[in-house]
Amino acid sequence: MALPGMRLSGPVPTETAAVPGSFLYHDDVLHCDGAPVPDLAARYGTPLYIYSEASILDRVRSLDQAFEPLDRLLAYSVKANGNLSILRTLARAGCGADIVSGGELYRALRAGVPADRIVFSGVGKSRAELEQALAAEILCFNVESEGELRELADVGREAGRAAPVALRINPDIESPTPHAYTRTGHRATKFGIPSEEAFRLYGLAAELEGIVPIGIDAHIGSQIVDPEPYRLSLLHLLDLVERLRQDGLALELLDLGGGFGVSYDEALDPPPESFAERIVPHLATSGLRLILEPGRYLVGHAGMLVTRVLYVKAMGAKTFIITDAGMTDLLRPSHYSSIHRVDPVRKELDREVRRVDIVGPICETGDFLALDRDLPLPEPGDLLGIHTAGAYGFTMASTYNARPRAAEVLVAGDKARLIRRRETYDDLIRGEEELLLE
Ligand code: LLP
Repeated sequence: MALPGMRLSGPVPTETAAVPGSFLYHDDVLHCDGAPVPDLAARYGTPLYIYSEASILDRVRSLDQAFEPLDRLLAYSVKANGNLSILRTLARAGCGADIVSGGELYRALRAGVPADRIVFSGVGKSRAELEQALAAEILCFNVESEGELRELADVGREAGRAAPVALRINPDIESPTPHAYTRTGHRATKFGIPSEEAFRLYGLAAELEGIVPIGIDAHIGSQIVDPEPYRLSLLHLLDLVERLRQDGLALELLDLGGGFGVSYDEALDPPPESFAERIVPHLATSGLRLILEPGRYLVGHAGMLVTRVLYVKAMGAKTFIITDAGMTDLLRPSHYSSIHRVDPVRKELDREVRRVDIVGPICETGDFLALDRDLPLPEPGDLLGIHTAGAYGFTMASTYNARPRAAEVLVAGDKARLIRRRETYDDLIRGEEELLLE
């Protein structure tokens, strides 16, 4: 393909081990573990989400082991990737679930997550959702306001069953995350209860008939690679726990939330030990059970979005690679300016490297997957792999522009299994068609 443009860098690198996990080149072809990505794209079509079971299990194992000295529960945050087969894989590996809606409760239970390993987070739980979760006998409700506490107490009283409660404390900690939208631990956000109100609300929780306070909770944000904010958050919670104990209220659970970050580029991920060593010593003799709510850390690297190049278009100084996936499939680049590594699925060693924007088919200027990226210039029909798309990829997908959502595939070894079929046009109009007026 002879388009005008500068050669910006040298030959294509021959090995990619840059993003940890399961997507590596063998003979210049990207594989998911033992499965060649081009074969999967041919079989299941594009855009396609591909996940590695081995990667997920490996992350669960290493994170869990890092916290080995403690009584602990990894309550996987379902919002990162709620596919039933992914949830079942995690449940079988011993994980519980952190849910934020009745829909996520439904998914977690359907996938086989034991109810007594489910914690319910979120700032706006409806009465119906509280009722459903109480009836399911979940482990704990992470309550975020006095209003919610009273509502839940009412639900518990009516049901004749006391709801187990942790208060989500806002520890007022500035956690460095790549985007303001993923910071939740400081006062300017809607999340949690200010510490100075905690005492009064624990007192209220102990008095109200339909609830029983059993824990304390915080979640300071998402995509945090520095372990120090976790230590600060933990010390903040432990201080409250101690004062409550002196007041006669003994708590059993301490939930430190999720947010452990991963690297989206060439840097190494923070090892799980880096978080554990700031947390474990403070809890070792506390008698508290630790709950963590990791999402991205467990499934982020396990997923790749595979897209096919439709057109290559030069406009002035810019070259646009137009792909069949866009912001409707992977919203993160557009919504958070996040940078996902993109690799050609087949390395064509003779291609010149060009600085390109990789853009989707959606009618929005903000519809892009990568901007100003140096890439061996692809041709129409080529496949591109977008790394670290296992978390907040499919779950944030939409059908905007009436585009059916992608298929999802789970790879175990060299075997691939469809775990969500590609949506059809009929899926798009379900719920409307039968209501059409003649
Ligand atoms: N627990 C709570 C209460 C949360 O709000 C979240 C994420 C998690 C756990 C899991 O966080 P993780 O371990 O996955 O970082 N859509 C954004 C991330 C928003 C996360 C919202 N809450 C993204 O694509 O980066």
